[in-house]
Amino acid sequence: MSFATIAVEQLTEEQAAEELARLAAEIEEHNRHYHTDDMPVITDAEYDALKQRNLAIEARFPALKRADSPSDRVGGAVLEKFEKVAHRVAMLSLDNAFSEDDVRDFVARVRRFLKLSENVPLPMTAEPKIDGLSLSLRYEAGQLVTAATRGDGAVGENVTANARTIRDIPQVLKGEAPDVMEVRGEVYLTKADFAVLNDRQAAAGKQIYVNPRNTAAGSLRQLDTSITASRPLKFFAYAWGECSALPAETQMGVVEQFRDWGFSINPLMKRCDTVDELIEHYRLIEAERAGLAYDIDGVVYKVDDLALQGRLGFISRSPRWAIAHKFPAETATTVLTDIEIQVGRTGALSPVARLEPITVGGVVVSNATLHNEDYIAGIGSDGQPIREGRDLRVGDTVTIYRAGDVIPKVLDVDLSKRPANSEPYVFPETCPACGSPATREVNEKTGRLDSVRRCTGGLICPAQAVEKLKHFVSRNAFDIDGFGAKQAEAFYHAGLVKNPAEIFTLAARDEASELTKLKNREGWGEQSAANLFAAIEDRRSVDLQRFIFALGIRHVGEGNAKILARTYQSAAAFVEAMKAGHDLESEAWEDLVGIDGIGPTVAHALVEFFGEPHNAAIVDELLTHVHPKDAEPVASDSVFAGKTIVFTGSLERMSRDEAKAMAERLGAKAAGSVSKKTDLVVAGPGAGSKRKKAIELDIEVIDEDEWFARLGE
Ligand code: IVH
Repeated sequence: MSFATIAVEQLTEEQAAEELARLAAEIEEHNRHYHTDDMPVITDAEYDALKQRNLAIEARFPALKRADSPSDRVGGAVLEKFEKVAHRVAMLSLDNAFSEDDVRDFVARVRRFLKLSENVPLPMTAEPKIDGLSLSLRYEAGQLVTAATRGDGAVGENVTANARTIRDIPQVLKGEAPDVMEVRGEVYLTKADFAVLNDRQAAAGKQIYVNPRNTAAGSLRQLDTSITASRPLKFFAYAWGECSALPAETQMGVVEQFRDWGFSINPLMKRCDTVDELIEHYRLIEAERAGLAYDIDGVVYKVDDLALQGRLGFISRSPRWAIAHKFPAETATTVLTDIEIQVGRTGALSPVARLEPITVGGVVVSNATLHNEDYIAGIGSDGQPIREGRDLRVGDTVTIYRAGDVIPKVLDVDLSKRPANSEPYVFPETCPACGSPATREVNEKTGRLDSVRRCTGGLICPAQAVEKLKHFVSRNAFDIDGFGAKQAEAFYHAGLVKNPAEIFTLAARDEASELTKLKNREGWGEQSAANLFAAIEDRRSVDLQRFIFALGIRHVGEGNAKILARTYQSAAAFVEAMKAGHDLESEAWEDLVGIDGIGPTVAHALVEFFGEPHNAAIVDELLTHVHPKDAEPVASDSVFAGKTIVFTGSLERMSRDEAKAMAERLGAKAAGSVSKKTDLVVAGPGAGSKRKKAIELDIEVIDEDEWFARLGE
């Protein structure tokens, strides 16, 4: 008999003991699927829910805690790792378009950035977006030397031995090749090969794979190369990284050269002259989709002219010169069985729909996001009705959709199937984790209540603390090997690490401790504990940008963290300015809101964070353990390196955005307003108050021609 559906508060002691036994076995099984087989069968949220339930029962019946309690166990069997490879040129992701309008907006944006009028041709390429995993192949003197996965875009895994087993990947480039050439593309498995592989798995009584993409990923990331070799992986080349001499001046030209070097290139890639042609090609690819041998999930458009690509550059992680036009998401109908509330790192209460499991796009889905309280009630973020005002209730039959990798969403509800006794959902007004009141702030801009309800428990809320810790160690933050979300949670609940600073005292405390040492804890041994301490040691020095992002300040994502790192350059200067900026009359505040790209909302969030003494104390403490690397000024040989530049008035040869992007590439900072810190003002016709202020402050003012002259153009 299972008591899985009985609420923790209602379990008898006897039932609780049985539940703990069941949970220990079940969690152990999922650990194995996740860590050893690389094939989780439940989502992270479901896994977390099992762990949470186990913890809650243990909290209620401490005497029943088992010797093999999953709360004490961190991770699974440790695999030997792949070596890391730093990408010389970052591997980027693509921005998405979901409609024809989005595509037209994208092309218009490109034209605006380049100041290209409608009558100037702007050829673009259109090609299928392959649903596989990207791989970067480095050739030196025409010989394959390294193959690396994307990883976090900056650092990937060295899978060279495995890549050599893929027949589509030449070991040697045919004909003439540059000294250094990094060819990038997608590793994939055909639908037919995937089916054969699954038949084989089923015949052997083994678990079947979810979809071709995950299988391709699992096949490439095998420590046993013979397994990779036994999988019929394929590769399409479509992009490049570092390269000592480009073989052509257009996207199409380079890809054709890939073919001549011996790569497979996608036959559906086409050069188009107008947006209408792009859309037409999208429709054609969409029509062919089902009949293609491999999975695709959209069409990628790229500016064909490489000189224009160079001018367009990048915005945080994606190029301005490309976009992925995604196919419509698949939908499915299922029953909403429950609504659960999760508490995020900034206290946001996020409702999650628990669903009767259903397959959407080849993946089994059992939960979906419900965004916020208003979304459940049928109100959009603009205060207007959504779903014609239909609310969502437990027991409802709902349509869900899933686009790519993102969390599934609930689209609509079928009222004809609503159970007669259903009740509107009542959103909690207290935090389910700490019991503090949860409130909705008034949005200053709109005057309306914010759609998100937040826990006001702040520092006393354990859910916020755990989420902050998870964020701190996450991939784009401190990224500590062997210290992921699961470990963050376990260490927090075991009382070992309560805040980020304590991560860096863990080894010393472990050394000194009379209590259970990590190596003696369930799931750990001498070696894994030593590895973890070494990995932590290794992260005592991180990029300033990661450090700022890791703090988990509201509104400070990777993009803003990068801007802040570039502006303040050192952790000490950043922290000092944020503390001083709490005084809204201060120069520090004025500088902060003057930074191009940092608006008042972000600026307020920053100074409020540092104005909270506990936060400031943890950051100070953290800085005694870690030493963020000063942000390096880029292109230090340029005459503009390190300078703060303000562009104002109308520019003729470039758009304002291109001017700013150009300044940043030269290692300068583009600011939105003129202050004592400004070094140079580039003023076009019509420049007004900013030019005046610059003259008052005795700051050099030049025109656009002079700017280009100094650039040497
Ligand atoms: S171009 C700088 N072309 O999509 C742009 N990417 O969301 C580099 N992908 O990580 C990417 N097919 O793994 C490009 N024809 C294609 C693609 C493609 C699939 C993947 C790639 C990338 C992801 C971005």
